[in-house]
Amino acid sequence: MTVHSEAAATGGKPADLPRRDHFINGERVAPAEGAYFESVNPTHGTAFYEAARGSATDVDRAVTAAQQAFENPAWRDLSQTRRGRLLRRLGDLIGENAESLARTETLDNGKLLREMRAQLAALPEYFYYFAGLADKIHGEVIPGAARSLLNYTLREPVGVCGAITPWNSPLMLTTTKLAPALAAGNTMVVKPSEHTSASLLELAELLDGSGFWPGVVNVVTGFGAEAGSALVADRRVRKMSFTGSTATGAVIARACGERFVKATLELGGKSPNIVFPDADIASASMGIVAGIFAAAGQTCVAGSRVFVHRDVYDETVERVAERARTIRIGDPLEPGTELGPLAMASQLAKVEEYVAVGRKEGGQVVTGGTRADVGLSGYFYEPTVFVGTDNGMRVSREEIFGPVASIMPFETEEEVTRLANDTDYGLAAGVWTRDLGRAHRMASALEAGTVWVNTYRAMSPMSPRSGFKNSGMGVEHGTETIKEYTRLKSVWVNTSDEPQGDPFVLRSQ
Ligand code: NAI
Ligand code: MG
Repeated sequence: MTVHSEAAATGGKPADLPRRDHFINGERVAPAEGAYFESVNPTHGTAFYEAARGSATDVDRAVTAAQQAFENPAWRDLSQTRRGRLLRRLGDLIGENAESLARTETLDNGKLLREMRAQLAALPEYFYYFAGLADKIHGEVIPGAARSLLNYTLREPVGVCGAITPWNSPLMLTTTKLAPALAAGNTMVVKPSEHTSASLLELAELLDGSGFWPGVVNVVTGFGAEAGSALVADRRVRKMSFTGSTATGAVIARACGERFVKATLELGGKSPNIVFPDADIASASMGIVAGIFAAAGQTCVAGSRVFVHRDVYDETVERVAERARTIRIGDPLEPGTELGPLAMASQLAKVEEYVAVGRKEGGQVVTGGTRADVGLSGYFYEPTVFVGTDNGMRVSREEIFGPVASIMPFETEEEVTRLANDTDYGLAAGVWTRDLGRAHRMASALEAGTVWVNTYRAMSPMSPRSGFKNSGMGVEHGTETIKEYTRLKSVWVNTSDEPQGDPFVLRSQ
């Protein structure tokens, strides 16, 4: 059985398409129910492979494999340093296969090959970073309880972890979950986005070569409501991590809450990018372009609400609009392309709808505002700049996830701080100023997990990422994230030979 998705309407020939199966217990496994679905190349709007449509049965198999691998002494008793060594080897193998992994991602989600190459070049660093942390995870001795009581903590792996990931940066956003989970000694089942199944399956093929036991990492492809929800519901899964929309994050958080499972959630954003009059305006304008037009605006940290001081407003709008007009739109595989397609037809429809909403609310489109005709049949949309919008409008409040910026004027630092924080989200923020005191005041006042000053979209495996408010909970990257993949146990040992004291009194000394 083949499910005809968006691709079928545009002429994909299911019978000719290569098939990709699940990766369970170190093997390619056909879906129990025999169903597959098409994945679309958004540059051409055509299907180019079919992936296994995961069911609860497939998820059950994968979790069973992960549970057995977790209990397997070969994995459980492996020294932490050696665990790190496996991660390092996996990082090496990803580096060696970076070009092919990057191409797979570009074919599946339409992001620039240039950008995916850069991401894949950085990806080994993530594995090396967490490899280095693998043997620095430990408990501590708690002093002071009593001379005759030794109290120490153990940081233990939690067991089988589940990860559900989106389509915008499939491997990167899986790695930020997979690498710390493995470093801490867990096993994992990953359900990638139904729009981008291929790259993770390719990565899974590298696991064997890096020395991981079968079952330590498993990949079940398919839809959120089927494979995704089965994974969240499986009682053997002791930890969930998710990146994606706030709506789905809330569904997952509720399901995890029902059975008291920890969830790390990295959700949507409506990030402010703020330009003060003392900023380097040329640089700030490019920062605005980077914030909203890179990756066609399909990033959780997109700087979609741009606030520019009235004194430099006209100049900044003109600079941003001018650069937006000259952005080269086209095939993401071409080295000169600056803006590829949106990742899927529904994403294009969503952007069109929001631009219509923005116009209706009274916004004026300075540039863009329409599909881009680039001679390809994919989902291209012009970089779009709105003026005349305000922070209360839907286009300023809801995540569009496309190349659409609203540029709004402000007059004082207090005013822009209030406007920037007046949002349901709190993922990231940008500040452009040459005033040192103001830079730090703003960094402190902004309600966002990440604040960039005079730059945008800087990232490192070492630097924690978290979302405030509706942008999520928990931390990814950095040393903190490891803790989310461990549980803490407190051990008390009586070191005295004295007989047990009064059994009816709490022992505190
Ligand atoms: P989504 O949040 O629904 O999908 C993300 C992942 O969750 C996918 O793997 C999906 O299969 C899975 N999923 C969906 N429903 C589920 C459920 N009930 N239980 C378990 N797993 C489930 O996002 P989608 O539909 O791909 O994109 C819709 C919008 O979400 C975008 O337009 C964008 O606004 C936002 N988004 C935000 C991202 C971010 O990085 N903040 C990433 C992707 C999407
Ligand atoms: Mg696709």
